[in-house]
Amino acid sequence: MKPQLLDLLASIERHGRENDDRESDRARKMLNLEPETAQLLSILARSARTKRVLEIGTSNGYSTIYLASAMAETDGKIISIERSPDKQTMARENLIRAGLLDYVDLRLGEATAIVSELTGPFDFVFFDGDRSSAPEQVRLLLPKLAPTVLMLADNVLSHPAEIAGYLSAVAGLKGFEHMVVPVGKGLSLAYRSAACTAEGAVGVE
Ligand SMILES: C[S@@+](CC[C@H](N)C(=O)[O-])C[C@H]1O[C@@H](n2cnc3c(N)ncnc32)[C@H](O)[C@@H]1O
Repeated sequence: MKPQLLDLLASIERHGRENDDRESDRARKMLNLEPETAQLLSILARSARTKRVLEIGTSNGYSTIYLASAMAETDGKIISIERSPDKQTMARENLIRAGLLDYVDLRLGEATAIVSELTGPFDFVFFDGDRSSAPEQVRLLLPKLAPTVLMLADNVLSHPAEIAGYLSAVAGLKGFEHMVVPVGKGLSLAYRSAACTAEGAVGVE
């Protein structure tokens, strides 16, 4: 990544952290990824040459910029969903500053309703919204996943009880390998290869 973009990301992350330290209302916190988690997402998206990314939980666009910079390399596109109009406005401004807005389709609203209308196929899905609706979003997305797909979710180590429903939804998917990477707050990775899909390993166990 270019030094200018890294400087912008460091400034967004710093403002997010300062905001979150000040703000007592959780809905107004930015809750950005840890930088090393965001970097790992970007490396994974680039190295797997993913082109159809879905992100649930845009916030101010910090992780979206990492993913959009990957899409600039792979000539892909990311759809990113956020329920807060104020945060979406911040994300748009930050993406413009990063010169990456063209790679992003920002959607405003409740993620589950939006996911149900999307067509896919997605080859990379990052769940970073509320954890209670994530299992339903997994169910809705299942027929909309590409044969080779990576699904990720943060906060496995920081919020184990809250993310348990998501993890059990993922554990029940046929053909997926699952692991937790102890980076940042704990990143869940679930991967299915086209070979598994071709052998008929699709759906729920
Ligand atoms: C953890 S923050 C996302 C942080 C962001 N991925 C980053 O690293 O910069 C979660 C965001 O998801 C949004 N959100 C949570 N549940 C949602 C839902 N069901 N639908 C839409 N947005 C949701 C929240 O408003 C919040 O901004």
